[in-house]
Amino acid sequence: MASYLEIPDDEEGHDLDLFCVPRHYESDLDKVIIPHGLIMDRTERLARDIIRDMGGHHIVALCVLKGGYKFFADLLDYIKVLNHNSDKSVPLTVDFIRVKSYCNDKSTNSVKVIGGDELSNLSGKNVLIVEDIVETGRTMQTLLSLLSECSPKMVKVVSLLVKRTPRSSGYRPDYIGFEVPDAFLVGYALDYNEYFRDLSHICILNDQAKEKYKV
Ligand code: IMP
Ligand code: MG
Repeated sequence: MASYLEIPDDEEGHDLDLFCVPRHYESDLDKVIIPHGLIMDRTERLARDIIRDMGGHHIVALCVLKGGYKFFADLLDYIKVLNHNSDKSVPLTVDFIRVKSYCNDKSTNSVKVIGGDELSNLSGKNVLIVEDIVETGRTMQTLLSLLSECSPKMVKVVSLLVKRTPRSSGYRPDYIGFEVPDAFLVGYALDYNEYFRDLSHICILNDQAKEKYKV
């Protein structure tokens, strides 16, 4: 079972005033739940664990857009550092896929692939899927079944966050950064209707903001 850093349900978080938060979001957020520095430290360790397990072969890192782009970029930077500084190193190539399943703060029942590279390029490859958050698990299960049609050699999934929720299908990624409470989270590329990707820390969105940015 993948180990992870648990953010408990009664986590009080940190006052916004203690960190730098864009002015335009100050009234939309209550607390910082995972500061950017902690995300980076945990990501550095995930890079090490992934290279330990997958480091024997060429890796294709598949970024699930848009929410995964920050984690993807930072994780790959840490993997690059490991490749620079060790006797063993692996070539790393990148692919992108775009999926959409959310409207406002609710998962819709359909998971749509709305763009990106041809999955058929991944045939015979060792693929690392890089995702921002797993909630019900439906997005990842859909993606994994699409991918299996292209017969990759190996598929591993790393998700920065996994939500503790009764809506979960039970699906768990191979690598997990943090397990988080059942709340709507934004920041570090996680969005609410496209807002809040330009926020460095992971924060809980307040109800007033859900109304303000509703579509
Ligand atoms: P799932 O299919 O229910 O596992 O949902 C996964 C997708 O929903 C993620 O890739 C996110 O894009 C989105 N998502 C789920 N929970 C959150 C959240 O708290 N904040 C932002 N996006 C979320
Ligand atoms: Mg996502």
